[in-house]
Amino acid sequence: MTDVGIDAIEIWTGKLKLDLPNTFAPAKGEDPEKYTKGLGLNASSFPDTYEDIVTMGANAAHRLMEHEGLTPEDIGRIDVATESSFDNSKPVSTYIAGCLERVYEGKFSHANKGERKFACLAGTQSIDDAYNWIKSGRNRGRSALVIATDTALYARNDPGEATQGAGAVAMLISEDPDLVSLSTEQGYGSADETDFLKPNQQFPSVDGKRSVQVYLARMREALEDFEGVAGRTHTDDFAYIPFHTPFPGMVRKAALFGYRHMIRDTSMEDDLAGEIGRQPREEAFDSEGDFEEALREYMDGLKRTDAYQEWYARVVDPTLTISREVGNWYTGSVHLARASALKTAFEEGRELAGERLLVGSYGSGAQAEIHAETVQPGWEEKIADLTIDEGIERRYDLDYDEYERVHDVHNHDIESDGDGEIEEFTAPESEFVFDGWGRMGERKYRFVE
Ligand code: CAA
Repeated sequence: MTDVGIDAIEIWTGKLKLDLPNTFAPAKGEDPEKYTKGLGLNASSFPDTYEDIVTMGANAAHRLMEHEGLTPEDIGRIDVATESSFDNSKPVSTYIAGCLERVYEGKFSHANKGERKFACLAGTQSIDDAYNWIKSGRNRGRSALVIATDTALYARNDPGEATQGAGAVAMLISEDPDLVSLSTEQGYGSADETDFLKPNQQFPSVDGKRSVQVYLARMREALEDFEGVAGRTHTDDFAYIPFHTPFPGMVRKAALFGYRHMIRDTSMEDDLAGEIGRQPREEAFDSEGDFEEALREYMDGLKRTDAYQEWYARVVDPTLTISREVGNWYTGSVHLARASALKTAFEEGRELAGERLLVGSYGSGAQAEIHAETVQPGWEEKIADLTIDEGIERRYDLDYDEYERVHDVHNHDIESDGDGEIEEFTAPESEFVFDGWGRMGERKYRFVE
């Protein structure tokens, strides 16, 4: 049976940077370590005044098509995943295809275009759609372009403000992929939750603390569901475990739960028993409170063991290197995590072909999905093409006052948006830019040479 998966990837970061410990923390009167150590973030990316979800998505897709030598004829499907859409009818993929048609001779008239929504999970769901489209044989030899693009902005003074970010990840989904193939086995954890939502509003309503608990609960269900079809998972089965990363501190929590689950009833649990005891079993406790207290104590101990720390440093920490510098990209975040891991392996000269990843995606509202991926022999060449390091490096470093002005520019409720009152901070070069409004309220774009 033909393998289907991610053949190539490109990442475009918003061109502005907010330094969290040095610019944001002092303005908020907070300890910088709340950001660097607590949340695990150094900086957030923001879009310049001429950037938005369309320009970032189109720029990522354009670069991907260029280094893959593709033309519109090669693409049979364009799916955009976003939770920052500005149009309830016309999908962002049509705007992006329109941009790309400005720089290619061919058209995407044969391509099926759509927009996927399930909070941050939608990027993975779009890959799923592309996978099924190819597996069903409907693709006529063509590949799918999946673009996860978001401006993850929160209202000012919302606790989520520290976790903002903006950028796009473009992925080519193909038969016989060069980067990773996807497992047929999948697990889901899904429930009607009210933890993070945007009922016809730009900035989210968030119950931050609860959202963390909901993430962990759905992820656990998804892992159990995955194991129901793929068999039990073990800590050494996977080279890396990329998770959806709203902020690295969230992944730190999820990884500890995952590790506890994986070592339960194994010789590893026995080996650690002398140091931290065995895992508390619910049936051994009279009350839920006592059980939870015992579990907290066990997790505190587990977190400090050499075995856990070595595993975390090897399997999870390398997935966080890009996120630490750019913040939450919502639909793109889990795909940044995969790219970070592969980039680390590439930089370390590690031989990874044939090794497996376990990928944990999550969307508020809420649903988690877990599947496995197998790294393909062509992975190194594809990762060598990534330009994200230069993108991160060349961002304009905002001061706090500039940050507030940029936040206002991208606030749909503030009139100054796009009217030229605020100067751009960087000069566009070989990229798509926002070019004002059309007669029907549509957003217009042009390519700057
Ligand atoms: N030094 C070291 N650590 C510090 C510190 C210091 N000086 N000050 C605080 N910390 C630690 C805290 O102990 C805490 O860590 P633990 O959770 O491990 O205890 C961490 O830094 C954060 O501190 P607070 O909990 O006090 O931070 P907060 O209440 O201001 O905000 C948040 C945290 C609620 C998660 C907030 O950032 C938020 O609302 N974020 C948006 C929602 C979100 O991202 N949720 C994640 C799950 S939902 C999801 O994944 C979907 C999505 O993308 C949005």
